[in-house]
Amino acid sequence: MTVSRRSLASAAALAAALSALGAVEASAQTAKPAKSAAPPAKAAAPAKTASAPAPAAPIGDAAKGFQVFKGTCGVCHLARNDMSKNDAMTKIGPNLYGVVGRKAGTVPGFRYSVAMRTSGIVWQPDLLRRYAHEPAKTVPDIRMSFPGLPKQQDANDVVAYLMTLK
Ligand code: HEC
Repeated sequence: MTVSRRSLASAAALAAALSALGAVEASAQTAKPAKSAAPPAKAAAPAKTASAPAPAAPIGDAAKGFQVFKGTCGVCHLARNDMSKNDAMTKIGPNLYGVVGRKAGTVPGFRYSVAMRTSGIVWQPDLLRRYAHEPAKTVPDIRMSFPGLPKQQDANDVVAYLMTLK
C-alpha cells in the first residue's frame, strides 16, 4: 500500500517537474522575439552621439595641444624656430614652426609630395583643424602616412598650439 502511494506521489512530482520544464521552455521561446528586436534599437544610438560633438567643439587649448603634438605629430615633425639649421629640423615630415599662415609645401630642403607642393593651400587655422583630424580627406594624395587625430578636439588643441609658434 505504502509503496503504491509513494510511487503515485513521485509520479505526481515528476509530472509537476515536467510541466515546470515545459513552462520554462515556453517562456524562453516567447522571450526570443523580444530579444531579437533589441539590437537595432541599440545600433541606432551611436550614430546620434557621433554626429553631436562636432558643432559643439570649442576652439582648442594650446597646453593640451602641446602634449598631443609631442606624443603624436612629434614622432615625425619638429616645430623649432631655427630655419638656418633647417636640414636638422627635418624629420619624416617638415618643420611645423610658423606653419599657420604659411603656404603649403614650402619648407626648404623638405621633399614634399607633388600633391602637397601644388595644392595652392595656405595653412589657415580652420583648414589645419580639419587636416589634423582627416589629412587624406583634406588634401588628397599627400604622403603623410598618418590617419589623423581621431578626436576633433585634439586636432583643435594641436592647432591652438601651432598658432603660438610664430
Ligand atoms: C607618420 C609621420 C607623420 C605624423 C605622425 C604626422 N605627420 Fe604631418 N606630415 C608628414 C609628412 C611626410 C608630410 C609631408 C606630406 C607631403 O609632402 O605630402 C607632412 C605634412 C604636414 C603638414 C604640411 C606642412 C607644410 O609645410 O605644408 C602639416 C600642416 C602637418 N603635416 C601637420 C601634422 C600634424 C598637426 C600632425 C599631428 C596631428 C602630423 N602632421 C602628424 C608626416 C607626419
